[in-house]
Amino acid sequence: MSPTIYFIGAGAIARNHADSVGLLPNADEIEIAAADPTPEARERFAAAVDDVRLYEDSESMLAEPVDPNDFVVVAAPPFTHHDETIAALESGRHVLCEKPLAPTLDEAKSMLATAAEADRILGSCNCRHYRTPGTERVKRLIDDGAIGEPYHVTWSTRRQRGRPGIEYQPESKWFLDSSKGGGGIIMDWGPYEFAALDDLIDPDRIDVMDAWTAQPETGVDPEKIPFDVETHGGATLVYRTDEHDVRVTYERASGTHGEERDVTEIEGTEGAIRWDWTEAGTSTVTLATDEGGDVVEEEIDVTPDEEIGAHDRPLVYFNRVVRGGDAPIRTGEEAITSVAMIDAIYQCVELGEPQRVDLAKIA
Ligand SMILES: NC(=O)c1ccc[n+]([C@@H]2O[C@H](COP(=O)([O-])OP(=O)(O)OC[C@H]3O[C@@H](n4cnc5c(N)ncnc54)[C@H](O)[C@@H]3O)[C@@H](O)[C@H]2O)c1
Repeated sequence: MSPTIYFIGAGAIARNHADSVGLLPNADEIEIAAADPTPEARERFAAAVDDVRLYEDSESMLAEPVDPNDFVVVAAPPFTHHDETIAALESGRHVLCEKPLAPTLDEAKSMLATAAEADRILGSCNCRHYRTPGTERVKRLIDDGAIGEPYHVTWSTRRQRGRPGIEYQPESKWFLDSSKGGGGIIMDWGPYEFAALDDLIDPDRIDVMDAWTAQPETGVDPEKIPFDVETHGGATLVYRTDEHDVRVTYERASGTHGEERDVTEIEGTEGAIRWDWTEAGTSTVTLATDEGGDVVEEEIDVTPDEEIGAHDRPLVYFNRVVRGGDAPIRTGEEAITSVAMIDAIYQCVELGEPQRVDLAKIA
């Protein structure tokens, strides 16, 4: 019997994952199956993937006999992640779930508990931009004291017209409906951002001091379908470690009347570092320090040990972990920490009160 990779949801990201199967060391032995209720999605998937077994629903697909190295990729919209993941784990298979792992922390905890009961691995696709070569280099520079004591991070990405469901992937209207997507651009990108920040600063606790969301208006805003998610949001966060508190000024926009901007910078008492945290391949890290009162900038080129594109990372890394290897992917309790952060940010917006995320007590 051959191991099978099962896809629940055969849309845009499932096609991307299916493209990555060829990169797996055991690609020749792997079979592919997919379940999607939409005929057009199944047809498009069948056109892109050879010899795929297709199903209209996940229940009939998961009734197939189980191979110990099978895994399921949950690649449907977020409101399905909890129930589909539970069913997949209970079928006896490991699960790689798309980001966000779940729209709420309660759902994420329930998924984690089921994985433990079923003795299966639950992994998150938020490893696309996790431990990227640039961020790994930044961590080493901080550990080596290159910027002294870190005290502030700016983590800001702003697009003027890049709203999922409108300008980006306009056919996927679920992105605009909070009952389907769980939230807006913070829910969409937060899973990557809070995993990366967590790994970079390694806090015991995070305080969400203030948070806000907005939906700036444009001339093409949909009016006849649900559109209740934020396209711009931000938060003031304090990452607390044994040694220091690091303030994080966080912002993300898929729609703003302000200017487009990408700033990822960590400032310390003796220097500052800027870099592109999303870059899975070769990148440049800029270290600014002081020499005799003048700003001195050094550009450090970073080359990854292995070239795997951001979209290939979840499947390649999860496959490695399922086969007993090591990979930079968040599984188990680590898979749910960014859900806790996003939950706390939305709670802070709703209640208007600071929230605390105690990383040791999440699960
Ligand atoms: N599109 C991207 O660039 C991208 C990138 C990274 C992660 N993701 C994540 O991947 C997930 C899916 O996004 P997408 O862009 O592929 O969406 P999509 O709209 O392209 O496809 C979703 C598919 O899921 C199917 N579906 C809905 N409910 C289902 C169910 N219960 N069982 C099986 N199939 C079901 C739909 O029919 C649709 O074909 C989301 O969690 C999203 O955040 C998307």
